[in-house]
Amino acid sequence: SAAEKGGHEYFMLKEIEEQPEALADTLRGHFVDGRVILDEQRMTDQDLRDVDKVFVVACGTAYHSGLVAKYAIEHWTRLPVEVELASEFRYRDPVLDRDTLVVAVSQSGETADTLEAVRHAREQKARVLAVCNTNGAQIPRESDAVLYTHAGPEVGVASTKTFLAQIAANLMVGLALAQARGTKYADEIAREFNELAAMPEAVRKVLGTIERVRDLGRSLADAKAVLFLGRHVGYPVALEGALKLKELAYMHAEGFAAGELKHGPIALIEEGLPVVIVMPSPKGRAVLHAKMVSNISEIQARGAHTIVLAEEGDEAVRPFADELIELPAVPTLLQPLVATVPLQVLSAEIARARGYDVDKPRNLAKSVTVE
Ligand code: G6P
Repeated sequence: SAAEKGGHEYFMLKEIEEQPEALADTLRGHFVDGRVILDEQRMTDQDLRDVDKVFVVACGTAYHSGLVAKYAIEHWTRLPVEVELASEFRYRDPVLDRDTLVVAVSQSGETADTLEAVRHAREQKARVLAVCNTNGAQIPRESDAVLYTHAGPEVGVASTKTFLAQIAANLMVGLALAQARGTKYADEIAREFNELAAMPEAVRKVLGTIERVRDLGRSLADAKAVLFLGRHVGYPVALEGALKLKELAYMHAEGFAAGELKHGPIALIEEGLPVVIVMPSPKGRAVLHAKMVSNISEIQARGAHTIVLAEEGDEAVRPFADELIELPAVPTLLQPLVATVPLQVLSAEIARARGYDVDKPRNLAKSVTVE
């Protein structure tokens, strides 16, 4: 009923709007007396100190949450982090031992490939930490420790609020590792955590601007394909934007690392093709920003219709943006938490304009428990 959907036409929009709470609830209780706490009973500081390599294994949107967190975890901890599709990881011969931490990310905690990846990792004696949104599900039951995301039940088949919560949880894993290893001082950990704790407010700000994005979505309903480009943390955001569009609008969509443009994707650019570009902050990452401006000018010169997500006050990108979606200024490593939100809305609105059921896209299941 409309009441269940909080007055919205579909659950997904309600769940998109619940993202500030999902983030805040996931962070709550994990910073106590100046320390980041994961799962006190089951993963000690000593366990974390012994870790010399991290794998994140997951499927779908949860996999993208790992790709986002990799940038921060490597930067904070100086540990190598590999992010793998669970369905690939489990059939490879990954190099694991008791000092490997495997983070298994799953909203449902029941995804077959992720569960098998957990079993595979434990057979090799690796320590497994589940990041899960469902109390007592199979994946946390079979893991050494669990960090719950508190996004609440998610009805929409395509993940939204659990994605943001997974990113927050993965980042807390990074902070806990940095704290145990001493690669960051206590005051730096506190600063990073506070920045994370400010993100629900930043997401709320983005939600205040989505009406324009909905209009934009309706105007793209007849597009044949949409490309998504990003660099650095904007790259996994581009992948997630493209996945959402495929899932909901059944449209051909692909995400690319902007640096790869000349290695293929630029051949796809033709008159009127919508290209969504996730811009880094001009202040936070000036070099990347300049490179992206040059990428956009190249594709615009070839006729692309550019839809640019950029930090508010980013004047340099304006001349190259046929459409501009402004984002609040936030720390670079956390930008995916705000940049993803307009892309979720865009996909949902394009799907709706095409007459599709946003909450139950064809051929997809909320949780894939058979391979
Ligand atoms: C399905 C859902 C996705 C989800 C993926 C992984 O494909 O439609 O939204 O990201 O499964 O699910 P999990 O429960 O393991 O996070």
